[in-house]
Amino acid sequence: MISIKTEAEIAAMRRTCRLAAETLQMVEHHVVAGVTTQELNDICHRFILEHGATPSPLNYRGFPRSICTSVNQQVCHGIPGKRILKSGDIINIDITTYLDGFHGDTSKTFHVGKPTPKGDKICQVAKACLDAGIRVVRPGARLGDIGWAVEQMALSHHCTVVREYCGHGIGREFHEEPAVLHYGKPNTGTMLQQGMIFTIEPMVNLGKPEIRHMPDKWTVVTRDHSLSSQFEHTILVTATGCDVLTSLDGEYLCSLPLENY
Ligand code: MF3
Ligand code: CO
Ligand code: CO
Repeated sequence: MISIKTEAEIAAMRRTCRLAAETLQMVEHHVVAGVTTQELNDICHRFILEHGATPSPLNYRGFPRSICTSVNQQVCHGIPGKRILKSGDIINIDITTYLDGFHGDTSKTFHVGKPTPKGDKICQVAKACLDAGIRVVRPGARLGDIGWAVEQMALSHHCTVVREYCGHGIGREFHEEPAVLHYGKPNTGTMLQQGMIFTIEPMVNLGKPEIRHMPDKWTVVTRDHSLSSQFEHTILVTATGCDVLTSLDGEYLCSLPLENY
């Protein structure tokens, strides 16, 4: 069952999603050579608590930290620790906040210091893949349309989409129905309805799509050691399009109904 959010639930989702986005914006300033992923975790943890929320990942299915930090060939679910970032690294920081009973989920991949050509390419393509998915979202579109748009964007740049992980419905639970695959066939799958809220969060590899799990049981890496990048937003289906609940800067205003201008 895919929940259709009420107006009150949507208002609460706007608040938690805004806090998740603000946490990501705040931590970006700390992504510099020499910082450890544990320090980034602690900065986010404190910020989230100071704003009356808790970090959803902490103790989620035994996850031991408050955010996920995935560096270079790490695809997702990296555990913050002693690793020291260096110039030329890319790092995805994935923030999920739990505020007043609702989860908000967003991530971006950042460059540490000066971007490398490969780092620059994979981050630009991964962002373009998320945006291609977002552009599809409106009532009557189907989940297969999103997956198809995302994967076509990756393939058109000779990159690949990880198949083992997907976007998800979100609300009172961190991960709800539906599963939002980042590949698919146009005109297939569940039809989108106004009031649905879900994430789109493609993991895009510079090389082959296959992944492997590290011995810590959480960190996912590319099997061929190629770079991987991910961007994630939490998205509300509106009457005529969508509202990107985790964007702060009007970046996606073009996809909103006219009355929002
Ligand atoms: N935030 C991730 C997502 O986008 C999930 C992280 S689960 C954790 O769905 F346990 F690793 F935190
Ligand atoms: Co998510
Ligand atoms: Co996330």
